[in-house]
Amino acid sequence: MRINTNSPQQSQRTLRRRTKSSPRLSYSVRGASTILISLFVVVGIFFFQVGDRFRDKNLWKSFTIPDMQEHFKCEEAFATTRPWWTSDQWREVRDLYHAFAQENKGTYQMADDNDTFDFSEIAEPFQASEEKGRGLRAARDIREGELVLRITNNTIVITDGYTYRKFMFAVEERFPTFACDIMTWNWCQDLDDEGEKFGIVVDLNDNNLLNAGDEETGANVWCGTYGEEDSCDMKNLTFYAARDIRKGEELLGDYGEFVSSHSRDELGL
Ligand SMILES: *[C@@H]1O[C@H](CO)[C@@H](O)[C@H](O)[C@H]1NC(C)=O
Ligand SMILES: *[C@@H]1O[C@H](CO)[C@@H](O)[C@H](O)[C@H]1NC(C)=O
Ligand SMILES: *[C@@H]1O[C@H](CO)[C@@H](O)[C@H](O)[C@H]1NC(C)=O
Repeated sequence: MRINTNSPQQSQRTLRRRTKSSPRLSYSVRGASTILISLFVVVGIFFFQVGDRFRDKNLWKSFTIPDMQEHFKCEEAFATTRPWWTSDQWREVRDLYHAFAQENKGTYQMADDNDTFDFSEIAEPFQASEEKGRGLRAARDIREGELVLRITNNTIVITDGYTYRKFMFAVEERFPTFACDIMTWNWCQDLDDEGEKFGIVVDLNDNNLLNAGDEETGANVWCGTYGEEDSCDMKNLTFYAARDIRKGEELLGDYGEFVSSHSRDELGL
């Protein structure tokens, strides 16, 4: 029946092939090609599945901060009052950071590891308001021009998106929803005066809780000398009281002095 639909040339070719090869041989050729095709299908399915899993496994490498916030379900986490980080938890995260930094090049501490400072006499964490969440308040009266906060060995810089994502996943794995906190606390800034180096900076202690002054209240804590242009040292952020601050008053920073939002795009985050 098939022969009927074939063109004369095709029929001739079929005939020639038939006469050329023995029936046994063509049988084994057919068997071999069946095996070969099955093999291709199996290998194909294998690679497709592995490829899929590989893609899923590597998806995080292109995550932006909003992607990670969604992945870690941060919106849910922030729907209720956030817990305080205990000093034990901070210690563990700092230990985790040290182990991480040994294996990952894209991060460093902004100050030497022996450059420490105890802020507990000056600033203390408190629940600022339902809406604002946690904040810092003056632990005693502070005079205008006094040093209030500064970077220490606890301030870390992350200089590429890959390292940032990896560290967030490591923190999240250890303490679920903690990476959500870090992502709201950290800031992007230029790391040199030329504006060619960028990084994400985060304090691995409660200094993170410094809220930004809004238009109404303004900032009472200022990087560099209050009112003095360009006095904020990008490599050594130091915050001074812009006016007298009474004990218990919330400390509010002026992040505009050192935050550069464009660097987040540069880092692909
Ligand atoms: C702090 O450590 C650095 C090395 O990381 C060292 O050069 C410096 O002398 C140390 N400073 C003090 C005060 O120990
Ligand atoms: C900074 O130094 C203090 C005191 O030695 C230490 O407890 C803390 O873990 C250090 N910070 C980091 C990030 O290693
Ligand atoms: C950063 O500034 C503080 C406060 O002025 C100072 O004590 C410290 O030595 C400075 N660190 C560096 C590395 O310049």
